[in-house]
Amino acid sequence: MTDSLAEDGTAGCSATMTAVAPAEFRSLMSTFPSGVSIVTTTDLDGRPWGMTCSSVCSVAVEPPTLLVCLREGSPTLAAITRRSTFAVNLLHSRAQATADLFASGTPHRFDLVRWSAEAGAGGPHLVDDAHAIADCRISRTVSAGDHTVVFGNVTRVEHLVAADRSPLLYGLRKYASWSLL
Ligand SMILES: Cc1cc2nc3c(=O)[nH]c(=O)nc-3n(C[C@H](O)[C@H](O)[C@H](O)COP(=O)(O)O)c2cc1C
Repeated sequence: MTDSLAEDGTAGCSATMTAVAPAEFRSLMSTFPSGVSIVTTTDLDGRPWGMTCSSVCSVAVEPPTLLVCLREGSPTLAAITRRSTFAVNLLHSRAQATADLFASGTPHRFDLVRWSAEAGAGGPHLVDDAHAIADCRISRTVSAGDHTVVFGNVTRVEHLVAADRSPLLYGLRKYASWSLL
């Protein structure tokens, strides 16, 4: 059994390699806790979009690059790719309700939180719920199964003077907080 990489980096898989069931994969990844963010953008009509996202990863320091993985079919993803900019709002531990709100599909989610849209920002800043925010410009996108990987160059970082600086975490299918800060 051999795996090979094509010149474009995609895997060519021969012989008997099979994928595990989605439930098994989800169960595995639930044991790998991560921080929680809300990825936001503003569409060309000025309408805010945003979704809860834990698949955020540091990619490179020079140039400063991160990635987020967003589900295909997400209106937030569509707005981000049209706009070419987005903001990654890193949530603090008291922002659990907002994380749930932005994962709920509720169309009026931005009516229920305090946010700002500054000139030069990649997307709306959730001023009550984030402890830090990265403004990003898309450098590339890669389609990967039912998600799209969005790479962003970080153009600005803001640290909010929030009462709670402890990051919100998600793992084992529940929220937690990093309480040692
Ligand atoms: C803690 C948590 C983390 C999540 N992480 C992701 C993620 O990394 N990528 C993703 O596509 N959806 C993720 N979701 C689900 C989306 O937030 C959810 O599908 C949301 O409704 C998408 O918003 P949309 O309607 O703008 O697409 C997560 C949900 C929760 C509760």
